[in-house]
Amino acid sequence: MPSERLSVVVTRRLPEAVEARMRELFDVELNETDAPMSREALAGAMRRADVLVPTLTDKIDHGLLAQAGDQLKLIANYGAGVDHIDVATARARGVLVSNTPGVLSEDTADMAMALILAVTRRIPEGLAVMQSGDWQGWSPMALLGGRIAGRKLGILGMGRVGQALARRARCFGMEVHYHNRRRLHPDIEAEHDATWWDSLDQMVSRIDILSINCPHTPSTFHLMNARRLKLMKPDAVIVNTSRGEVIDENALTRMLRTGEIAGAGLDVFEHGTEANPRLRALPNVVLLPHMGSATREARTEMGEKVLINIQTFADGHRPPDLVVP
Ligand code: DGY
Repeated sequence: MPSERLSVVVTRRLPEAVEARMRELFDVELNETDAPMSREALAGAMRRADVLVPTLTDKIDHGLLAQAGDQLKLIANYGAGVDHIDVATARARGVLVSNTPGVLSEDTADMAMALILAVTRRIPEGLAVMQSGDWQGWSPMALLGGRIAGRKLGILGMGRVGQALARRARCFGMEVHYHNRRRLHPDIEAEHDATWWDSLDQMVSRIDILSINCPHTPSTFHLMNARRLKLMKPDAVIVNTSRGEVIDENALTRMLRTGEIAGAGLDVFEHGTEANPRLRALPNVVLLPHMGSATREARTEMGEKVLINIQTFADGHRPPDLVVP
């Protein structure tokens, strides 16, 4: 690597302390407007920067990577998920990709738990009653939800977030089940008192609440397709704080409308910011604007990880959070 300061382009606003440190360490271009950069602007950045710091709102695909200059050596993603980056093409072109795992797991698991509670205990409907000013007082039969203690939670993807959710679920008295490509070490399984299902079909047909916590990859796209959604019990609930593409959103919307699935809590959507309009109209659905990691702490620690990844690379070593295609 050249000995002069690395040139770094950051595509979105980051916490102030992170931007300040970027300025100290690197020759950095910050996006003062926070508007997502256009494809042309991204291509331009990739032609001049040594390091690009994108977020999940930047699609770094094959076409864009083909326009990158030879000086681009690292894509230090601000975020854990890298499904918006063609990591294989980047690697083939000699561009490393790093991410920020770990620091957002607890907060994302909190949001999954919040969605489980919001849907099963009908919190937004209660809020709407209070906001309308129409509350007529306590009633034995008003806004009855379901008890979560004793219910079976199925976690699809038992990585960091899945395990953080398992810890919370146990405190709420839930039974924890999980499906993962690889079974956890028996000690970790015992720590979570979690039951492993080799067959996702079998797990989804038995649980009461399904939480999606696996990344979006070609093999997890529409893992919850119409056929699998139909295996769920009609009183089951599904929550997703990972990536929308893991669920066939049209199929889910249909089944929520027909009552084949009781409710859903979604922080992410198949088409990015375009939550299916028919989903928005359903009372048994809670929608959030991708807030899983939206705490000041997580967003700052994500920035600190980006800084470490870039600085380690600048020092001639492998970034600690290197993503392997
Ligand atoms: C990530 O880091 O990929 C998260 O989805 C951001 O909240």
